[in-house]
Amino acid sequence: MTENSENLSPIGSNVKKITTSVLHQMKEHGEKISMITAYDYSLAKLVDYAGIDVILVGDSASNVMAGHETTLPITLDQMIYHAASVIRAINHALVVVDLPFGSYQGNSKEALTSSIRIMKEAGAHAVKLEGGREVKESIDRILTAGIPVMGHLGLTPQSIYKFGTYAVRAREEEESQRLMEDAKILEQTGVFGIVLEKIPAKLAGEVARSVSIPVIGIGAGNEVDGQVLVLHDMLGINKEFSPRFLRRYADLHDTITNAVGQYIQDVKSSDFPNEEEQY
Ligand code: KIV
Repeated sequence: MTENSENLSPIGSNVKKITTSVLHQMKEHGEKISMITAYDYSLAKLVDYAGIDVILVGDSASNVMAGHETTLPITLDQMIYHAASVIRAINHALVVVDLPFGSYQGNSKEALTSSIRIMKEAGAHAVKLEGGREVKESIDRILTAGIPVMGHLGLTPQSIYKFGTYAVRAREEEESQRLMEDAKILEQTGVFGIVLEKIPAKLAGEVARSVSIPVIGIGAGNEVDGQVLVLHDMLGINKEFSPRFLRRYADLHDTITNAVGQYIQDVKSSDFPNEEEQY
């Protein structure tokens, strides 16, 4: 190891790779962490090129890529397929992959086996799972295999049928107390970071200040250590989904439908291809 090699990628290239320890340093220095979802090679390449810190291969692929109503149907094999495509695209970002519903809740052995498959078959850098104290034993076991784990508290979409709604969580004292305790349990267990989804901003800020690990919010206000959004939502591909927390940075719905509409018109009118577009 040379003096500078600590700043290089774990595999020695000159591109600075984001690791879990880089994320900890960012929190320590008050530098906000950017995180976004991706599920395929082409878009992962773009977000990595743009300089995103963390790519989440979220089980929201179940909604976004497959059109399911919930995240529950996506399988471990499908998550591995998405994750492997993303991994082939990236140079810089840390890639975290969701353990899908049914791949870790059974017992800690199952949780470890699923995590090993994600790391080995997709080449992922870390896994994420939903829940607090109830998944502690699984997290312990995954960590003993040297696999970094991220937690996810607040609105946990894999439990949608228990909640019955996607409304804001932890508004009441009892639930917010429990969430704070769970965040501390996750930290003590050794997760490298926590996603907080759809909880009051004040509570999210208190959690972020109470733990030493990065806390990344979605619908959790600005007092946390970073933000995550679903790529397709922030690009405006899906216009039907517009929760209060979502900021749209593009209107790809109109850009894409207009472009395809123009193409259809050009084909129908025989304008495409022209002389220069043929052999
Ligand atoms: O699956 C996902 O996209 C997520 C984010 C909403 C954090 O878990």
